[in-house]
Amino acid sequence: MTNEKETELKLLEAESQLLQQNTDLISEVENKSAELLKSERLATIGTMASRVAHDLKNPLTILQTYSEMLTPEILSKFDSKDKEKWFRMQNSILDMNRIIEDVLDFARTTEIKKSKNSMLRIMKLALNHVDSHYGVVINLPDDDLEVNCDPRKIEGVMSNLLSNSVHAVDGHGEIDVTLNSDSEFVIIQVKDSGPGIPDGELDKIFEPMYTTKNTGTGLGLVICKSIIEQHGGTISVSNKPTTFTIKIPIKN
Ligand SMILES: Nc1ncnc2c1ncn2[C@@H]1O[C@H](COP(=O)(O)OP(=O)(O)OP(=O)(O)O)[C@@H](O)[C@H]1O
Ligand SMILES: [Mg+2]
Repeated sequence: MTNEKETELKLLEAESQLLQQNTDLISEVENKSAELLKSERLATIGTMASRVAHDLKNPLTILQTYSEMLTPEILSKFDSKDKEKWFRMQNSILDMNRIIEDVLDFARTTEIKKSKNSMLRIMKLALNHVDSHYGVVINLPDDDLEVNCDPRKIEGVMSNLLSNSVHAVDGHGEIDVTLNSDSEFVIIQVKDSGPGIPDGELDKIFEPMYTTKNTGTGLGLVICKSIIEQHGGTISVSNKPTTFTIKIPIKN
């Protein structure tokens, strides 16, 4: 091969490498711009939603206070059908409160305050926020573990996961909560006998505002993920049976 041909070949190769690098760079810039746009959009939604949620809190507190004051009077006068309507109205007020708290929690990621806590105690406290149903059995672990964590935040995570599972089993099923550890992590699992999450949707459920419920905010799991990550841990999900796995580093 003549020197000229060799140089030409090398030039052609360098040109094709440059083209490839150029294509890679363009797609990297596109990806980063999309990410930036998404996080900017999320920040704007967060600010707007938290302002609305905050402004709704006062009128809602007034509704709640007056409805509670009226309860004994109404219960003594109403027939059973009207009592039922009254209770449904009060439950709706509670629902609205919960949704507002979710939105506010999402917008303000406060610092976590860690201390040594009994995980079983946190789980029992979390159960107080979960709607109980006659046909739903929730099994808590037999053995306890002490974990360095923010108890109130982890209680929130557990009640979110348990509420999701109770909703998923739709009035009839079993939910198993387990607590284990290996050399590095405390491992909490919440497993339910519900129908699971469609495979194509598995990676969407931790995204803000993904919900399949009429009154859901789709923020529950986003908040769970952010709290667990604040502890240096991870949260993941798998199907058959639906299992959420939380790993919190022992030394965190
Ligand atoms: N255990 C589960 N089984 C089946 N689907 C689930 C389960 N947990 C979550 N999901 C799905 O993930 C979606 C998002 O859950 P997330 O907790 O973030 O919001 P949400 O429960 O819809 O609303 P909110 O928490 O405000 O009530 C749910 O709407 C549901 O479709
Ligand atoms: Mg939820």
